[in-house]
Amino acid sequence: MIKLDNNQIHLWYVRPAECNSQELLESYQRLLTKEETVRQQRYIFAEDRHDALVTRAFVRELVSFYVEEKPEKLSFQVGDNGKPELLNCSLPLKFNISHTKDLIICAVTLNDEIGCDVEQTNRDNDVLSIAERFFSKDETTALFSLVETEQIPRFFDYWTLKESYIKAWGLGLAIPLGDFSFYIDTCEHHQSYQNHNIRLSFSENRQDNPDHWQSWLCYPSPDYRIAVSIWNPTIKLSQSEPFEISVFKSMPLEGYEKMSVEEFCLQNYRCDKTESKTR
Ligand code: COA
Ligand code: MG
Repeated sequence: MIKLDNNQIHLWYVRPAECNSQELLESYQRLLTKEETVRQQRYIFAEDRHDALVTRAFVRELVSFYVEEKPEKLSFQVGDNGKPELLNCSLPLKFNISHTKDLIICAVTLNDEIGCDVEQTNRDNDVLSIAERFFSKDETTALFSLVETEQIPRFFDYWTLKESYIKAWGLGLAIPLGDFSFYIDTCEHHQSYQNHNIRLSFSENRQDNPDHWQSWLCYPSPDYRIAVSIWNPTIKLSQSEPFEISVFKSMPLEGYEKMSVEEFCLQNYRCDKTESKTR
């Protein structure tokens, strides 16, 4: 059993390419429901089918560490906009999943709604034009006032944070991306492993309160960016102690290793594959 306290976030990850033994993959398949297998088999590319299989086994197993239930016995339901949640769970466990090339994460906490995003940052498409089109005015002003070499790294800070916000709500792109703004206080992100100096604000179109949020950026390596946001509409999270984040590296059904965010980042995971679009 793994214990999770109220002010903690457990950030799990798996590198799907490492899960390659046939025997292991067969045991993952046995954890999936028929419905999950049908969905997993629908992917056209073998690599996507592999990642989808690993994701389901990864999430089922890690949740089973917190609740007294076997991974294959857990029940999930999917919200109207696609956010998976636990059904009939003995704990108020909240989780959110994100994938990018060669890295799958799942952020877990108690009670508070949680959203996370991981992105591969060495893409070759014109990301700054996405910022111009979709970010809020405050964000684009802050982004384009940076020196040029800082703009693309900062783009991924905003992108992952914005995604973690919409994923905590569970509403997907129904939330206009220009209606909320992140302020990021430090810009020397390659000199630290995580950043909690982050604030939110909202346009008049959006009913929300920055006091109910906490957000983080994590810099695992120059190739990846991770953001996590938590939200509790009844608690002033902005005035609570910052949550403590621990990282768990998983090899589903083989074991896991707990580490600090710093130890995770010191592994400096590289990604030699490029992905031209988000999944
Ligand atoms: N809310 C929260 N989580 C959701 C969700 C929702 N509405 N819908 C799906 N998810 C979860 C699922 O667990 C999913 O993984 P699974 O299918 O293996 O279970 C996971 O989030 C996918 O997240 P990620 O890998 O980060 O995918 P994405 O970035 O392509 O899409 C969406 C995330 C679906 C929630 C949605 O935000 C989207 O379509 N985004 C497109 C990207 C974009 O424009 N981002 C703007 C950032 S500025
Ligand atoms: Mg994403």
